[in-house]
Amino acid sequence: MVANDGRLNGNRGQPSERDGRPHPPHRWQPRHTRYVHLTGWGMCVPERVVTNAELEAVVETTDDWIRTRTGIQERRIANDRETVTQMGFEAARAALNRADVLPSEIDLIVVATSTPEDIYPSSASKIQNLLGATQAGAFDLSAACSGFVYALDMAAQAIRSGSINTALVIGSEVNSRVLDWNDRSTCVLFGDGAGAVLLEGSDQPGGFMGAVLGSDGSGAELLGIPTVGTASLPEGRQMHKIHMDGREVFRFAVHIITESIRQVLEKTDLSLADIDLIVPHQANQRILSAAARNLNVSEALFYSNVHRYGNTSAASIPIALCEAEREGRLKPNDNVIVVGFGGGLTWAAAALQWQSVQEKAPKGLAYRLSQGRRELQYITAFWRARALKTYRRLEAVLRGSPAKHANLRESAPAKGKEDSSREKR
Ligand code: COA
Repeated sequence: MVANDGRLNGNRGQPSERDGRPHPPHRWQPRHTRYVHLTGWGMCVPERVVTNAELEAVVETTDDWIRTRTGIQERRIANDRETVTQMGFEAARAALNRADVLPSEIDLIVVATSTPEDIYPSSASKIQNLLGATQAGAFDLSAACSGFVYALDMAAQAIRSGSINTALVIGSEVNSRVLDWNDRSTCVLFGDGAGAVLLEGSDQPGGFMGAVLGSDGSGAELLGIPTVGTASLPEGRQMHKIHMDGREVFRFAVHIITESIRQVLEKTDLSLADIDLIVPHQANQRILSAAARNLNVSEALFYSNVHRYGNTSAASIPIALCEAEREGRLKPNDNVIVVGFGGGLTWAAAALQWQSVQEKAPKGLAYRLSQGRRELQYITAFWRARALKTYRRLEAVLRGSPAKHANLRESAPAKGKEDSSREKR
């Protein structure tokens, strides 16, 4: 990551003298306005499709109940090899191909997820390693189903400030591993998958316009997954399993999706008439219908693919963006709102102009060459990681314990001495 060293504005923090008159200290500012463009996008979902009819054999439910209450017809379920990291990596590769950017050009990787393999190391660090993004900082972000929009805003602000130029934002989830497959009120709702977008800084206006983020922790108990730090598990909750008060979450979702769209429109000086598509978190078709009614717009303004994937939490918005573009629902310079809501409670909405910079390269020889360079970086990343692991092992054998020369007893002040010196003071 290239951090700004503060030299952009000369004698930052010191009173300056111009025209012989004293001026107040300079505030840090980037050299000029930076715009943030979405230049790449990609998705990856498990191959295994599980239909509602198949779930009838798992819990007491029916295809008709699931369809009419949620709009969901099927979802994707990960196999043992499909993880947040593996799917996030595939989605990231697709986004880099689309943007024609090398992994070594990425400054920051943020993965929004609630189902990582580990609390740490982060999935973002693992994806950074698989990509060979050796110049990138990486972290996971936890904001449940709002996570992707939170991550988008964090990355966009870092680019706007001039701190970084290129960021990969990923939403990736394997909800199937945190579902209680005996609980019919939750297990029919969720699915697995990943989506990614690449953000790049530019002087050309357009792209990311602004976002609103929100949280109301008083509703924390309505939706959650207890994990390692839980002190005591309340009655009816299971470790590492989703619990949810469906009716309350439904009420919250309808209200907040409407409210956060209104807020982001106000913040970005837009009106609903300016918006070509709203890409919401895909939780339930009835939530989207109710939000459309509240806003007095056609339901068609809300993109939906919930029937194909169910609720994929932080992955649902980037997956929906990819499919909306593929279906011709998103065209260059379209104004789009992405809006997420979920556990926390949290919510977030962002306004952006879709693909408002021209694609970098036509898919000709130059593109094929840089595609070759990307593949080479993935292969190099694999061998680099192996070499570093071997080096660490060898170093451990040859050098032994790094603390072998340290004698804590000698370096610590004797208790008696310390006490007497304190008394003197
Ligand atoms: N199949 C059949 N019946 C089911 C069922 C299932 N999969 N799940 C629940 N039921 C039953 C309930 O037990 C209840 O039975 P009862 O009346 O005998 O007690 C009945 O269906 C109605 O339950 P209710 O909770 O009122 O249904 P609903 O219309 O509110 O729909 C949800 C339930 C979960 C679909 C809905 O509340 C919802 O979508 N909530 C928001 C969930 C969400 O989006 N979460 C993620 C946010 S990020």
